[in-house]
Amino acid sequence: MKKLVLFVFALASLHPQSDAQSKQIPHLEKRDNRFALIVDGKPFLVLGGQINNSSAWPATLPGAWSAAEAMHANTVEAPVYWEQMEPTKGAFDFSNVDLLVNQAREHHVHLVLLWFGTWKNGQNHYVPEWIKSDPKTYPREENAYGKLLDVMSPNSAANLDADKRAFAALMRHVKSIDGTEHTVILVQVENESGSVGSIRDFSPAAQKAFEADVPAEFARTLHAPAGNWTKAFGPDADESFAAYSTAHYINEVAAAGKAEYPLPMYCNVWFAYPVHALENRDRPSAGQEYPSGGPQQANIPIWKAAAPSIDILAPDFYSDDFTLFRNIVAAYRRDDNPLFIPESQFGINFGRYFFYALGHGAIGFSPFGIDRAQQPEVPNPQGVIASAPVRTVNPAENYALFRAPEEQIARLNLEGKLYTVVEDKGAPRQSIHLTTADAAVSFGFPQPDGAYPPGTPTFQGRAMVAQLGPLEFLVTGFDASVSFTLPAAELQKQQNQQIEILQADEGQYVDGVWRTTRILNGDQTDRGLNFRGANPPLVRIRLHTLPLYDEAVHRKVE
Ligand code: DGJ
Repeated sequence: MKKLVLFVFALASLHPQSDAQSKQIPHLEKRDNRFALIVDGKPFLVLGGQINNSSAWPATLPGAWSAAEAMHANTVEAPVYWEQMEPTKGAFDFSNVDLLVNQAREHHVHLVLLWFGTWKNGQNHYVPEWIKSDPKTYPREENAYGKLLDVMSPNSAANLDADKRAFAALMRHVKSIDGTEHTVILVQVENESGSVGSIRDFSPAAQKAFEADVPAEFARTLHAPAGNWTKAFGPDADESFAAYSTAHYINEVAAAGKAEYPLPMYCNVWFAYPVHALENRDRPSAGQEYPSGGPQQANIPIWKAAAPSIDILAPDFYSDDFTLFRNIVAAYRRDDNPLFIPESQFGINFGRYFFYALGHGAIGFSPFGIDRAQQPEVPNPQGVIASAPVRTVNPAENYALFRAPEEQIARLNLEGKLYTVVEDKGAPRQSIHLTTADAAVSFGFPQPDGAYPPGTPTFQGRAMVAQLGPLEFLVTGFDASVSFTLPAAELQKQQNQQIEILQADEGQYVDGVWRTTRILNGDQTDRGLNFRGANPPLVRIRLHTLPLYDEAVHRKVE
C-alpha cells in the first residue's frame, strides 16, 4: 500500500503546477515540430463540438449545452455575430458573449469563439445592417463584370477598419470577463474566408492594387519574381492576389484583437475539394466550388507569409472520402501549422477521422452541428457481413474514452509518443512500429486462432498505442485487439530474445493520476488486449524481454 501511495505521488509530481503557470493565458507550445494547446499550464486536447450557426442565442443555448454534455465534449465552439454585437456603429452589445461564457462555466466546458465578421462561408452575411446598407462607405467585392457581390471587398480600408475595431472590442471584452478564468481558449477569426462569386475583387480600388507591384518582402518570401501580380504569379495571379488581400486583411483583424488579448487564433478553411463529377477537370475553380483566396491547400504558403498573426490554418472536413482526409491532414499538418479540425461531419466516419488526426498530432477535433437532433447513422445492411455483429458508431464514444485522460493524451502527443492506426477497407490487420516493440493491431471480432481478423462491416476499427516507458504502453481502441512483439528489425539481429507481458492494468486517469481498477490476465491478455464494444478501457501494459532459449543447452543439442 505504502509503495502504491508513493508511486501515485511520484506520478502526480512529475508535472507540478506553479501558480504562475496556471495563470498563463492559453497559448500554443511547440516542441520539435509538434504542438500542444496549453491551458492553465497543462496540455489540453480539444474534444470539441460546434453548435449550429444560429444557436448562440439565449433561446437555443440550453440545447447546445445538453448536446455537448451528451457527447462528452470538453469544449464548445460557438459563434459571435457581428450583426448582433454591433447593431449600430460603435455601440457594442456583449450580452450573447457574456451568456456564452457564463453558461459554458456552469456546464464545465471551455469555449472557442468564432468571429462571424466580414466573412462567413465566403460571403458577408453577418456584417451589421449599417454596413450592408451602405456599399458606398463599405464597398463590396465586384466581379469581372462589375456586379456587386454579397462579399465585402478585402481591398477596402473602411471595411478593414470597421472589422478591426469590432474584433478588438470583442477581445478587450473577453479579457475583461475571462482574463483570469480562461474559459475561452481559442478564437476563430472570420469563418471560411475567401470569396464566393468571383476569383478576385475587380472593384476599381482592387484593380489598381492588382496592377501595382506585389509587396517586395512578400514576393521575396514566396520566391516569386518582382513586378505586378501577373508577372509574379502568372496563371495563378488572380487567386494569389485574392489570397494575399484576404490574408492581409484578416491578419490585421487578428493583430488588433491580439493587441487586446493575445489568445491563439485560427482561420477555418473551406478547402478545394477535388472535382470528381466533371470530365477533363483536374481542379475546382476558385470562387465557384470554393471561396477564392481563402486558405485552401494551394494558398497555404501565401497565408503563412501574409498572416503571421494567425496561428493555425484549420481545415473543415466534410467528406466520407478517407483518402481525401489523409491528404488534407498531410497538407495542413506542417512544422509551422498545428493540426486542428474545427469542423467535421457528425457521422459514421467521425471515429476513425478523430483517431487518425490524433495520431498525426492534432490539438483538437470538433464535429459541426452538435445541437441538431442526432440520428445515429446505421450502416447500410447491404454492406454487413452476416456473421459480424453490427455496432452503430456513436460519435460520443470517442470523447467518452478520452475526456478523462485528455491532458495525458495531449502531453504524449506533444512529446511525440502517441501513435494510432485506423481500419481501412481490405486492411483489417496493421502494425505500429515503436522503437522497442511492434504493436500488431487486428480489427473486428471474432478472432479465432489462426484466422485472419474479419474487420468490421463499416471499417470503423481504430486503436491507439502511446509509449510511457521503454516497454510500457498506454493502449486503447475500438473493435480492435492489440498485441506486442519484438520489433521485426530487432528480431533479425538478435534471434535469442522474446517479449512477454509483466502486467496489464485496466484503469483511468483521475485528476491526472493513473488509478488501476483491475489487473487483466488470462483471456483478457492471452490473445492480445481486446477492445470490444462501445466503452473500451484504457490499459497500461508493461512488457519485458528475456532470452528465447538457454544458450548452454542449445549449444549442447547442436
Ligand atoms: C461550414 C461552415 O464553416 C459552418 O459555419 C456551416 O455553415 C457548415 N459549413 C455547413 O453547415
